[in-house]
Amino acid sequence: MQIIRRVDRLRSAVSLLRRQGGQVALVPTMGALHAGHMQLVKEARQRADHVVASIFVNPKQFGANEDLDAYPRMEESDAAMLSEAGVAILWAPDVDQVYPPGFATSVSVAGVSDGLCGAARPGHFDGVATVVAKLFNQVQPDMALFGEKDYQQLAVIRAMARDLNFGLDIIGVPTVRDADGLALSSRNAYLTPDERAAAAMLPRAMQAGIAVIEAGGAVEDATGGIEQALLAAGFTSVDYVTLADAVTLEPLEKADRPARLLVAARIGKTRLIDNMAVASH
Ligand code: PAF
Repeated sequence: MQIIRRVDRLRSAVSLLRRQGGQVALVPTMGALHAGHMQLVKEARQRADHVVASIFVNPKQFGANEDLDAYPRMEESDAAMLSEAGVAILWAPDVDQVYPPGFATSVSVAGVSDGLCGAARPGHFDGVATVVAKLFNQVQPDMALFGEKDYQQLAVIRAMARDLNFGLDIIGVPTVRDADGLALSSRNAYLTPDERAAAAMLPRAMQAGIAVIEAGGAVEDATGGIEQALLAAGFTSVDYVTLADAVTLEPLEKADRPARLLVAARIGKTRLIDNMAVASH
């Protein structure tokens, strides 16, 4: 696996791969890789002939109260995992290769970026859309893979790729879960053992709520039940429990089209998010 930090070298390396024929997949990450990221790589290897993974801790998606410097950086062990998994190129750009001096452009996807996590993290999805647009232009892949775990991020990127004619496939990869159902996330490492045990209520309460909605029960009853179950299990607060249109993320009162249940809740100092599909009726 080649580790590349400059755009000109990336361009030559990707052209070389292209000359070998076949499709190129991109797996964008901010590093600190866990089994969820490696699932993206595995899926990319199955779908494409060459996989480029990127590691770039993107300053533009961190808010003023979010600690960019505290974000875990472990490039050496990440690189070993990616190489072992068959990645051809690790694109680990220096900051000036993504944001050269005078960089003045921002990509903003209205609507889908605004509610849910966008409401609590103003500017976050503009930062994500901007860096992902840059990565798409730098690598020029045939496809890019993102986890469904960050469902709003995936919806923003799909909308951006469609609106700006990026001409690549955006592939959402199902969330990888621990045995008790908790979605894998680098944030789980911050949970104390008691918090980790209580966190298992998140997927359980969501499934119970989805059963209510799919049986034709009121969405309000289902979302209220989830909130109560989380607080009773030891969650500190619930940011949102929302049934939303699976594409636009507009809130829904009925699951009368492809829908998603999305939850964000805090346990101690850690904010957990999760989402699941809801069958429409
Ligand atoms: O999901 C992430 O790790 C990041 O938001 C992404 C897509 C790599 C953009 O920085």
